[in-house]
Amino acid sequence: MEPGLVDPFNRRIEYVRVSVTDRCDLRCTYCLPPGHHDFIEPEHWLTFDEIERVIRAFTELGVYRVRLTGGEPLTRHKLPELAARLNALPRLEDLSLSTNGVQLKKQAQALWQAGVKRINVSLDSLQPARFAAITGGGKLDKVLDGLAAASAAGLHPVKINMVVMNGVNDDEVEDMVRYCIEHDFTLRLIETMPMGDTGRTASSHYLDLEVVRRRLEERFELVPAVMPGGRSRRPASRDTGTSMYGGGPARYVGIAGTNLRIGFITPISRHFCETCNRVRLSADGALYLCLGQDDKVELRPLLRAGIGDGDLKDTIRAAIARKPERHEFREQPQKIVRFMSRTGG
Ligand code: GTP
Ligand code: 5AD
Ligand code: SF4
Repeated sequence: MEPGLVDPFNRRIEYVRVSVTDRCDLRCTYCLPPGHHDFIEPEHWLTFDEIERVIRAFTELGVYRVRLTGGEPLTRHKLPELAARLNALPRLEDLSLSTNGVQLKKQAQALWQAGVKRINVSLDSLQPARFAAITGGGKLDKVLDGLAAASAAGLHPVKINMVVMNGVNDDEVEDMVRYCIEHDFTLRLIETMPMGDTGRTASSHYLDLEVVRRRLEERFELVPAVMPGGRSRRPASRDTGTSMYGGGPARYVGIAGTNLRIGFITPISRHFCETCNRVRLSADGALYLCLGQDDKVELRPLLRAGIGDGDLKDTIRAAIARKPERHEFREQPQKIVRFMSRTGG
């Protein structure tokens, strides 16, 4: 086994998020504006062969978690086929997917068969009109049906990602808690991050999740979540496959008397960059070193020029050596010009 990937801040990189398309069948206000047309041309999308090749190189360098994202990953034709190919990589232990859930009803079974065992699904409101307003016309029923199909297919845990927006949906957190208890889903509450043109909208509804936690404490008894292996990134305490907690930045609490876990994702109020373990591959083959910075290393031209495996790994190592210490979300004026949809969260 080759030496693993360690960045200049002594963080072990073991998780790659792969955006398979920047297109989406929804237009969430904090992610993509309604009239956005500047999408990556399909001829620039990495092919499944190219994605597999890059991820194989990463796994040989110590990465053992991969998350498929978008845009909306389920809009990429034959996505389960890619999932199956990645799942067959011998060193990959945790293959997951982040989706808006619209196409889950159709695809949940195929995903499970392809080796995706756990998924995270965006759901910001349980009110049909509000859901449509946030998502640019999305149909809530479709997502709820998709969630039911995911559970029925055996995907577990199913995590609900709720971006909590002041004055938009922050009055629904309690409803979401009850919904997740009822359906045995994990709930994650997320602070909005300012990216691309939509960043200004996102920022204007920013809410510190500490406020939400205090509100929850008035209604429920919050208890420490039991976390097998802790949040450690050390390989000795890997929590793989169907683990509740995954490899992400959420900090979890429980609610007494229930099985519910609530994860708080607080990139703005309490960032988690010191434990960062990940990089991102965009649909056109750029390796982004941080969600909250635009610096990237273009792999597509190298792949298409026939780069060898050794040089590909050297390129990846050199990229990791450029990983910044932390994000620039708090810079004013807003610095991150790319849309969230380009790297899928
Ligand atoms: P798990 O492995 O299940 O914990 O997944 P995850 O939370 O890493 O992935 P998901 O795609 O569900 O992301 C949830 C939220 O966390 C999204 O808003 C992401 O943008 C955000 N997020 C994930 N990773 C990072 C990160 O490294 N930095 C920042 N700032 N936000 C992140
Ligand atoms: N801020 C915070 N989270 C976001 N997501 C998308 N855009 C933003 C944003 N601007 C979340 C979605 C999805 C996850 C992958 O990223 O809710 O669940
Ligand atoms: Fe890592 Fe950047 Fe996310 Fe911080 S913002 S956790 S450095 S990817």
